[in-house]
Amino acid sequence: MKKVIYENVADQKSAAKRPPVERTLSHNEVPENLKEFAKGRSFYIRTYGCQANLRDEEIMAGYLTAAGFARTQDPRKASLAIINTCAVRENAEEKVYGEIGSYKINKQKDKDFMLVLAGCVMDENNVAQSLMETYPWISLVIGTHDVTRLNELLSKALEKKASIVSVRSFASEVVENLPSVRSNPFQAFVNISYGCDKFCTYCIVPYTRGRERSRKMEDIVKECEELVSQGYKQITLLGQNVNSYGLDFQDGTTFAMLLEAVAKTGIPHLRFLTSYPTQFTEEMIHVMATYPNIDHWLHFPVQSGSSKVLKKMGRRYSREEYLDVVSRIKKAIPDIALTTDIIVGFPYETEEDFQQTLSLCEEVGYSSAFTFIYSPRSGTPAANWEQIPPEVSHERFLRLKEKIDECTAKSSAECLGKTYTVLVDGPSKRNAEVLSGYAPNGKLINFKGPSYLTGCFVQVKIKESHVYSLVGELAEDPLIAKARDVSFQMHCDPLLKEYLKLDQAVQNDPEIKSLGEALLEKKKKLALAFGDDISYPNAKREYEEVLQKIRNHPLLHNRDALREQVEQTLLQIRDSIR
Ligand code: SAH
Ligand code: SF4
Ligand code: F3S
Repeated sequence: MKKVIYENVADQKSAAKRPPVERTLSHNEVPENLKEFAKGRSFYIRTYGCQANLRDEEIMAGYLTAAGFARTQDPRKASLAIINTCAVRENAEEKVYGEIGSYKINKQKDKDFMLVLAGCVMDENNVAQSLMETYPWISLVIGTHDVTRLNELLSKALEKKASIVSVRSFASEVVENLPSVRSNPFQAFVNISYGCDKFCTYCIVPYTRGRERSRKMEDIVKECEELVSQGYKQITLLGQNVNSYGLDFQDGTTFAMLLEAVAKTGIPHLRFLTSYPTQFTEEMIHVMATYPNIDHWLHFPVQSGSSKVLKKMGRRYSREEYLDVVSRIKKAIPDIALTTDIIVGFPYETEEDFQQTLSLCEEVGYSSAFTFIYSPRSGTPAANWEQIPPEVSHERFLRLKEKIDECTAKSSAECLGKTYTVLVDGPSKRNAEVLSGYAPNGKLINFKGPSYLTGCFVQVKIKESHVYSLVGELAEDPLIAKARDVSFQMHCDPLLKEYLKLDQAVQNDPEIKSLGEALLEKKKKLALAFGDDISYPNAKREYEEVLQKIRNHPLLHNRDALREQVEQTLLQIRDSIR
């Protein structure tokens, strides 16, 4: 029988309580036994769910890389695998069970193989216990609050030769100094707040992610500044409700203030997820309209077009209030692209309510939407209410999808003939000659162009529109786009910045200046003494003494020590367009 240590188990009721926030720093020292285990081994992470989970993946990858593991994209080659789960709907949860089964082979081949289960499903009552009973090859179960203890818990599992469960439902921490390996070299996610206090009656998130708590503004801005200096082109600020950012500080801090501070870091494109309709203030609309680097794209989940259903859902706005905010935003930012989330088949939703959802979609004119059939989540109020028959929900879902496709096609057609600044993701999956990327309005655009444009901004004119994507053509010389990108990179690159700074200091240093003058003087003397056996050796010695002083000067020494790295950077740029 396998030894299992239960450090903490999920308790959804405790997660729903609101304990005071603890602010700590991540302990990033790696335990010796884990370092030893990581040598020559690799890890694999599979993530389901939203951006909060994607960001957790980057942080877990940060911990494992610091421990010395390599990364593999092949789960069968991994010595350590993590399944990062999502609990938001039943089908998201079910995907996980088949996947856990597939790791039995890893364990049979390698008795030291470690399987870790993480993510929101683990924060549900009794899940960890039943997983441990069913799948003996699981080594560790961690809740969303225990991601920051990954290395510590892996080390403990190795030391005790046991499986461990640590799901701290009661936690409401904000941990800084997190290690991270970002999955995209030019687009970054930055958490601004964790958890959710809204408790919509269908939603599991407040029970899995705990109370809503904001990161300090200075920590967020510092992270964004670092991303800018590393050459990132786009930042997406993340929170379940970004609009309530800072309200927990009770000192007047607002999301609009944060948005403005991040816009000022100079990141070329800034966006944020997710906005709660009623908390979208005039101040925010103003900041969005003022800073050109804030994308005119807004994910604005409505969930339903019926005020009656919205009330049952515990959403704190009516249809009219939602439409009012939308019209104020459209007035201030006429080219705003709005996307949304909609649930159909929620308890008590009648055909009339559903019709109101359809008409609201038309009225708003969404550029796209995520649509879901209501899925009862254990422990949430709506799960206990009388449910809509599945065939009714399904039929409404199909009709909604049709309506959304209509809206999406219409908004795509409106892009025809326009030119957009596209951040190039890379060659398209279907055709290596075609590049794909996203416009600031969130539309996917495919166009022909050289692969060196990956990660650059380029002007693309739209020629064809399909429902889910647009086809365009380059509206500028690709070399110009690349040159602009290189110039931006050089401006931000910390190595080049340091090199230029040291060079400036060298130019301005009086001692180096007088040494330079002295060298010139000695050189002249040397030339005059040429051929004279007596004065020449003296003049040569004096010349070399000054030369040595120059070479040993700390400023010059520091600048020249960077030369080789600078050369490498410039060569990489040259190679990138070959
Ligand atoms: N905090 C965000 C999103 C959270 S979850 C917000 O408030 O908008 C993402 C989406 O999943 C939700 O917007 C909702 O549309 C959907 N969702 C959440 N719980 C669901 C459930 N029980 N059944 C179906 N869809 C659900
Ligand atoms: Fe869930 Fe509502 Fe919170 Fe969004 S606002 S995470 S839907 S409880
Ligand atoms: Fe899923 Fe958790 Fe996100 S339940 S949607 S991964 S917060």
